[in-house]
Amino acid sequence: MNIILLGPPGAGKGTQARHLVEKRNMIQLSTGDMLREAKNSGSEMGNRVATVMARGDLVTDEIVIGLIKEKISGENGGGFIFDGFPRTLKQADALDSLLKECRKSLDFVIEMKVDDDALVSRITGRSSCGACGEVFHDVTNPWPSSGECPKCSSREQVRRADDNEESLRQRLMEYYKKTSSLIGYYYAKGDHVSVNGLASVEEVQESIAEVLNG
Ligand code: AP5
Repeated sequence: MNIILLGPPGAGKGTQARHLVEKRNMIQLSTGDMLREAKNSGSEMGNRVATVMARGDLVTDEIVIGLIKEKISGENGGGFIFDGFPRTLKQADALDSLLKECRKSLDFVIEMKVDDDALVSRITGRSSCGACGEVFHDVTNPWPSSGECPKCSSREQVRRADDNEESLRQRLMEYYKKTSSLIGYYYAKGDHVSVNGLASVEEVQESIAEVLNG
C-alpha cells in the first residue's frame, strides 16, 4: 500500500508516518528529512538548499523529484509513505510517472486537516531526537527530564532552523500558493480522503488505520 500524507507544516505528517513505519513496516520517504540530511552532510546540493529551507521557501522540483527517483525503485516493505512530497503539480505528475515505471500505484492520499492557528504552537514547540528522529513537543509531549530520548537513549535534542514563526508564515504561504491545489487534484483522481489532524495523536492514528484497513 502506497500513500501520501498531505497537509501544512505541523499537521502531524512526520508523527503519523513514524507510527506507520513501526506498526506496518512501511517506508517513510520524507523529502524534508532527505534535504536536511544533504544539508548536514555538507554536500554541494545540501549547501544550496540550506538557506532556501531556512527561509521557508520550496526547493526546486528538479532536486526533490531526483531524491524521490533514487528511492522509489528500491525495496518498499509494507509500502511507501510519501511525507511532504509531492508539493506542486509538477511533483505530483512526476510521482505518477515514477510509480507507473516501477509498476506501483497510489492507494490513498490522506489529507490531514488542521486549523492554521494550531500550527504556530505546534511548530515553535517542536524538538526531535538528533539520533533516531523521534518527535517531541514542549507542552504536549516534552523531551524527558532525564535528558535521554526514550526510544534510543541519545541525549541530543535538536530544533529545526525553520521552526520559528517567521519561517512558518512563509512555509504556510508556500503551502497555500503551491501545494493546497493538490487536494482538488487528488479528489478528482478519486484518491483523496481526509482525517481530522486536530485530534489527539492516538485518535489521528486510529482514523488513518480505519482508512488503510478499509
Ligand atoms: P518538511 O520537513 O516536509 O516540513 P513541513 O511540511 O513543513 O512539515 P513539518 O515536518 O514541519 O510538519 P509535520 O506535518 O511533519 O508535523 P510533525 O509530525 O513534526 O519540509 C521542510 C522544508 O524542506 C520545506 O519548507 C521546503 O523548504 C523543503 N521541502 C521539503 N519537501 C519539499 C518538496 N517536496 N518540494 C520542495 N521543497 C521541499 O508535528 C509537528 C509538532 O506537532 C510536533 O511537535 C508534534 O509532536 C506535534 N503534533 C503532531 N501531531 C499532533 C497532534 N495530533 N496533536 C498535538 N500535537 C501534535
